[in-house]
Amino acid sequence: MKLKLPAPPIPASLKSPPRRPDEERPSKVEGAKEAGISAVDWVDERTSLSGGVRWMLFRKVPRGTNWAYTLGSATMFAFLNQAMTGVFLAMYYDPSATNAYESARYITNEAFLGEFVRGMHKWGSTVMVVLVFLHMGRTFFWGAYKYPRELNWVVGAVLLVLTMLMSFTGYLLPFDQKSYWATIVGVNINGTGPLVGPYLNDFLLAGPDFGATTLSRFYAIHMLLVPGLIAALIGAHLYLVARLGTTAPPWLKAEKNPELRKESV
Ligand code: HEM
Repeated sequence: MKLKLPAPPIPASLKSPPRRPDEERPSKVEGAKEAGISAVDWVDERTSLSGGVRWMLFRKVPRGTNWAYTLGSATMFAFLNQAMTGVFLAMYYDPSATNAYESARYITNEAFLGEFVRGMHKWGSTVMVVLVFLHMGRTFFWGAYKYPRELNWVVGAVLLVLTMLMSFTGYLLPFDQKSYWATIVGVNINGTGPLVGPYLNDFLLAGPDFGATTLSRFYAIHMLLVPGLIAALIGAHLYLVARLGTTAPPWLKAEKNPELRKESV
């Protein structure tokens, strides 16, 4: 079976014909458009990247594609929102047991737009969790986990676990009573897991008990390890989506082409 689709041709609107000597000078808007095209051409001539971009973006989608197919991209948008707002929060947040609470208070009450950015990050985390479950439901009920997309389902399942890990590690960071005790409960639940439970417990707490380094461990997992893994896995997830295409809605019947009937092959 040949799965690879060739990259579609460059759309006509992006190709500017060379100007003839007797032609009038282009308007400012035309000139700006041409400048943009030649800048992209310059990079493309040296990298051939446009083929990859076209392969990724100009794809054929099955008949019956609807709004439910946007849930994956919406989840990705929520992740990018978390990454952007997280960078600004990290500029003021201090992951030390003595200063964490005060730095979170400073962000909310004193830093410019701090309350807004912190609110975007806090509510954005809930939005991402809700969207990832809706997206998983969409792919499940459409049967998109079946051949040949099993691997993409597995990548998605890992993304789901990592998304939950982001919520869990982020909850400790404000370092108030609620986040401290919720983390104790969460780590204890992990500790009851078979075989790996106690090791996981020690790893998360950075020792047998909640101590001075627990917060920085959670912070490192929350803002370096897990987002890095999520970004890499989203790349793999999207590569597989572009390579395999999306699944047609299960209620649409395949077209009955008489030439493909068994008896005529
Ligand atoms: C950070 C989390 C995730 C992101 C950003 C993400 C992103 C996407 C995007 C953009 C698509 C293509 C458009 C669409 O069908 O919505 C897609 C497709 C897919 N995703 Fe995800 N996804 C995530 C998590 C998951 C999870 C948790 C699962 C399941 C366990 C999953 C399974 C799939 C499958 C099977 C497809 C192919 C859909 C098809 O063939 O119609 N994804 N994903």
